[in-house]
Amino acid sequence: MPENKTYNEVIDEIRNRLDILDVVQSRVVLKKKGANYWGCCPFHNEKTPSFCVNVQKGIFKCFGCGEGGDAISFLMKINNQSFNEVIKDLAQQFGIELPFHSGNSKQYTEEKQLIKDLLNKSCNYYHNNLLTLSEASEALKYLEKRGITKEIIEEYKLGFSLNHYDDLIKKFKSEYTPVIYEKAGLAVKTEKGDYVDRFKNRIMIPIRDESGNVIAFGARAILPNQNPKYLNSPDTVLYNKSRILYGIDKAKNKMIEEDFVVIMEGYFDVISAQAAGLKNAVASCGTALTVDHVKLIAKYSKSRKIYLAFDTDAAGLKATQRSTEVIKEAFTGLGNLKIFDQAYSSLSDDKYTCEIRVIAPFDSKDPDEYIREYGIEEYKKYIKKAPLLLDFELEQILKDYKSDFSPTDKLKLVKKIMPLIEEIPNNIIQNEYIKLVSEKINIDEKALVREVNRSNMLKTVENKDFTGIVTKSSNIYEKAQKNLLCLFLTGESNLGINYLTEIIKNVKFIDKNLIIIKEAIDKLSYQVNNDVEKLIQALYTQFAEDNELKDIITDLIYISDSFKNLSERDFRAVVDENALKIQQYQIDCEKRELASKYKKLNDDDIESMQFQMQLREKIRNKQKVGE
Ligand code: CTP
Ligand code: MN
Repeated sequence: MPENKTYNEVIDEIRNRLDILDVVQSRVVLKKKGANYWGCCPFHNEKTPSFCVNVQKGIFKCFGCGEGGDAISFLMKINNQSFNEVIKDLAQQFGIELPFHSGNSKQYTEEKQLIKDLLNKSCNYYHNNLLTLSEASEALKYLEKRGITKEIIEEYKLGFSLNHYDDLIKKFKSEYTPVIYEKAGLAVKTEKGDYVDRFKNRIMIPIRDESGNVIAFGARAILPNQNPKYLNSPDTVLYNKSRILYGIDKAKNKMIEEDFVVIMEGYFDVISAQAAGLKNAVASCGTALTVDHVKLIAKYSKSRKIYLAFDTDAAGLKATQRSTEVIKEAFTGLGNLKIFDQAYSSLSDDKYTCEIRVIAPFDSKDPDEYIREYGIEEYKKYIKKAPLLLDFELEQILKDYKSDFSPTDKLKLVKKIMPLIEEIPNNIIQNEYIKLVSEKINIDEKALVREVNRSNMLKTVENKDFTGIVTKSSNIYEKAQKNLLCLFLTGESNLGINYLTEIIKNVKFIDKNLIIIKEAIDKLSYQVNNDVEKLIQALYTQFAEDNELKDIITDLIYISDSFKNLSERDFRAVVDENALKIQQYQIDCEKRELASKYKKLNDDDIESMQFQMQLREKIRNKQKVGE
């Protein structure tokens, strides 16, 4: 009896009746090629098909943008629906009665729609206020003073919220309850229990999702003493500020086209830049940059070229630093940061995963002010010559150097520089920078080399001093293992694959799941004659019942995107780099015991060195006095 079915049983029934081909074909033109169907991915812009449907496994996977999953996840993504919303629609379509389930409530879907509508209407209402009401004249004047033209106001649908406590709430009260207002982030519940407008006497800046729907507001104060300067919508069912970037709706196409993005600090920076023609500018909305923000960017800029355009004052520099940490975190395991320009040296065959540059105009104005004062063409010059992150950071430290620095002063400077130099993954480049720095601050190059080596050694010891292996470093090794495996799934040159097969034989894996997958790949890729599609299919078949392994495999397929289109030489370089990391890990483990003995030795060493330096300084000072 259907009434007695549980929610999960209904889901199973729906899954059984769903045909992935039917589902996908209603939205994508597919063509059969081998065992699979291929088409152009509906989730990103492309002209050559990299979107694949595997009927047998009931899954789809885009090898271009990485989206993948089963029929239900396809519907969730394409219709922007929750799991339960999709189930509800399908049940209706199949004529299956749904048992009550808190998550499937019709209410939720309808509520979301109501919130969307209310936000949209509010946006229009605010916009109209700004253009027509006499109360908005101050706001309009303010915008004018900021160089925001009528066209820009129209284009960005800027608006104005009246200085009343319940103006907006009253405006649409026949259609929306105060609770909907609150859930839309437009009203706040007071202690007494009634609802008041969140935004009062502010310039309203609509925040839009990737498709351009209004999902939230940023609101700027007009009066100098009105606090806070910016008031933002809270997170809602539509808006998650750690995932959305202001301006993404207008920036995304330009990001694909020009393959880079400029991250700025504020709403008006983005508005000024975009309006002046620099469309690929975005900003986070009153929060620090997050890994999800970076992933959103990576979706559009394939070579992940990120220009940071934060202020160059102390706070801005902190933001730059924090953001670069986040960017690096988002790309760990995929390779190194680009640290030097091709033009700088001929040693440039290192593969890098992402490129961070810093835009820092001479008078440290924010982009909005700069563009207004000097124009977009001048600003673009700074983009053109924006230094890579490492050069920028070094420059920031080195500009404090004065020729009359004492040895202690120099040592202080060196201590700030060391972490930057240590991070350079290539020895030759590292030495180039050591040479550069030691010349600049007039110290012995060999001494600096020794310092870097010593510090590396100390770090190894510190890491290994704990009983367990530090999670962070073991993550790196897990990633290295994954990277090696996913190289099998890139569909690239056979020659590369043969090399990989040779190398991987001698690499000892440590993660138990990855060992299983490695063995399966080993066996299956031989059986399917290195045909990647077949290999993937075979892997899914083999691990159909094992969600954990299946997830890892999907993950691997996803990561393999980052290694596409490598030349054979680069392919080999990536193999070597990751194999080396794994071997290094083994060696590190074995050396742990030994290393802890070194620690004492090094501590003594440092003390004696500092002592000697002080001594030398004293002698020098004495000599000076004696002169
Ligand atoms: N911000 C915020 N809440 C605040 C202050 C700032 O959310 N109380 C965010 C806003 O996104 C703002 C950005 O941080 O756009 C930068 O703000 P700020 O550095 O104060 O200055 P500007 O962007 O230069 O602001 P304006 O030009 O309007 O003075
Ligand atoms: Mn500003």
